[in-house]
Amino acid sequence: MIEHLLSCDDLDAESATLILDTAAQMAHAMSGREVRKLPTLRGRTVVNLFYEDSTRTRVSFEAAAKRLSADVVTFSAKGSSVSKGESLKDTALTLQAMGADAVVVRHPASGAPHRLTGWLDGAVLNAGDGTHEHPTQALLDAYTMRSHLGRLEGLRVAIVGDILHSRVARSNVSLLRTFGAEVTLVAPPTLLPVGVDTWPVDVSYDFDAVLSRLDVVMMLRVQAERMNASFFPSAREYTRRYGLDAHRMSRLPESALVMHPGPMNRGMEIAASVADSARSVIVDQVANGVSVRMAALYLLLSGHKGGAA
Ligand code: NCD
Repeated sequence: MIEHLLSCDDLDAESATLILDTAAQMAHAMSGREVRKLPTLRGRTVVNLFYEDSTRTRVSFEAAAKRLSADVVTFSAKGSSVSKGESLKDTALTLQAMGADAVVVRHPASGAPHRLTGWLDGAVLNAGDGTHEHPTQALLDAYTMRSHLGRLEGLRVAIVGDILHSRVARSNVSLLRTFGAEVTLVAPPTLLPVGVDTWPVDVSYDFDAVLSRLDVVMMLRVQAERMNASFFPSAREYTRRYGLDAHRMSRLPESALVMHPGPMNRGMEIAASVADSARSVIVDQVANGVSVRMAALYLLLSGHKGGAA
């Protein structure tokens, strides 16, 4: 097993499958229990270090660590000495001195989790770094697809919307290709990254043209906070061309899944009726996130210095 979880590029099919299988065991172990806790990481400390806003990911990592009986310290940059100008390195050294066994980090700078590995002895888990990667999101997405559709190999997945700013898209492309799925990116040209032609994906500007042959459609949030220019004429125009509404949903195959990593802009990239429909597995994605993060923490910490708990 790898030492840190920084990028889906570090996972081969075998290690990624091990994480998904372990997550399934975690979910199973939790389901029959009155007290939803396993003693596995008792006495270990997991620090959640969040320099960017988050609801799902932060709460999910916290729940995962607690269900494994770890001690959890959550540090959000707002209200900390970061606002007094403390550097990432000094924060890392503080956590190191406190004996963190694992640090879960979200940071606006791509590469920040990788930098941390040089300053910490514990495992580092990337919970989203800038526009780079968000590996546990891709793992929980793959877990959700596998649990509903029974396989990943050969699945036809469209990732739709703001690819340019999306670490979720980058991690999903990498992991889905490792599992042998076929990925199509659908977006206006302005929301595709430079060099996308070298990615192992198909690209389409026409959402309607791809709908009828998809197994999964993954909608992405329009990340207005990362935009410093205008990337499309108007919100209405974006929704008209790239939004998933009830009409477009009706053109998907019967068994196709609708996914979204959250947070959603209801009415923009996805209609509320679609998000709440029977085909939407958005709530499952959130629930599966806890099992996948339990698996990642367990596998990294039991393989790490200090040995298995
Ligand atoms: C995403 C993120 O923060 O990268 N959300 C998440 O973690 N579930 C996507 C987003 O912010 O749109």
